[in-house]
Amino acid sequence: MAHQEIDHVSGVSTTGHEWDGLKELNNPLPRWWLWMFYLCIAFSIGYYFVYPSWPLVSGYTKGFLGYSQREAALADAAAGQAARLQLGGGLKDATLQQINDDPKLLEFALANGKAAFGDNCAPCHGTGATGSKGFPNLQDDDWLWGGTLDDIHTTITVGIRSTSPDTRVNDMPAFGKDGILDATQIKNVAGYVLSLSGGKVEGADTAAGQQLFAENCAACHGEDAKGLPEMGAPNLTDAIWLYGGDEKTVVETITNARRGVMPTWGGKLDPVTIKSLAVYVHSLGGGA
Ligand code: HEC
Ligand code: HEC
Repeated sequence: MAHQEIDHVSGVSTTGHEWDGLKELNNPLPRWWLWMFYLCIAFSIGYYFVYPSWPLVSGYTKGFLGYSQREAALADAAAGQAARLQLGGGLKDATLQQINDDPKLLEFALANGKAAFGDNCAPCHGTGATGSKGFPNLQDDDWLWGGTLDDIHTTITVGIRSTSPDTRVNDMPAFGKDGILDATQIKNVAGYVLSLSGGKVEGADTAAGQQLFAENCAACHGEDAKGLPEMGAPNLTDAIWLYGGDEKTVVETITNARRGVMPTWGGKLDPVTIKSLAVYVHSLGGGA
């Protein structure tokens, strides 16, 4: 023990520690601090018994309450899953129309459909479903194969010119490549088609084009060229183009045909997801 002395100013004994002439006084700890200290010790001992705390060789002391954050999190997740299954189950049994009419089911189907769209469809149709050349815009109310809930549901399930045996399919002939029409005839019919949406092909005989259209195109695109959804043939009068509405592109379409492919999702996605997708796509720009 270092020698103790009494500090002259405060009358308190020193601890004997001294730095550059400064001496440490041996004051007692403040009472409030000491009580806090004892309380903490008592609390921690209590805690050891009640909650999981000390590590053991394998495992740890579990405590009286048997509380486990892991189990609490798992229970939360299970409750969420059950709620989702209940709603998902609702979707499974409901018809598309029932889902569309029930705000709660609809809300769930739209969220589900939007997520599935981002995962599966956005690469071709775009994140906003606005499409690009050859990939239809699903936001507008212009449909190749029809825009009702059932039409859209069928298109997604079987695909278009897909590998499904039930696929939607209708192949426009390659009028030029297969020698059905010659270059002049193609120019004339392209001139007629473009005239329907206010366009023009320089030097085309649209009267002859109209005649050619009636003979070669009307069976699929309709007498009035407004399209036939049961044929997957687009409206050619609305200035909405899948491949483009300039002379060069239309001539190219008539010469070689396009025959775009949309994969089948039947088998690849579960029925609830496909229903959700149909309802979601319909909400973007579906008709009736
Ligand atoms: C590999 C590219 C590709 C993917 C992926 C794809 N589509 Fe398509 N989709 C197409 C093409 C191409 C067409 C147009 C086919 C045609 O020319 O007739 C189309 C057409 C459609 C149509 C018909 C539009 C109309 O006007 O009738 C719907 C609906 C549709 N897709 C929904 C979806 C949904 C929903 C998904 C995701 C589950 C999806 N597509 C994924 C390429 C794709
Ligand atoms: C057997 C049915 C069929 C016949 C006949 C047919 N088409 Fe098509 N046409 C289609 C289908 C289906 C599409 C959809 C696009 C695809 O093939 O991917 C299409 C697409 C088009 C497009 C592209 C439209 C766009 O938005 O880009 C043009 C243009 C067109 N047809 C013009 C004609 C003309 C002109 C004729 C007659 C000379 C004709 N079609 C005859 C079925 C037909």
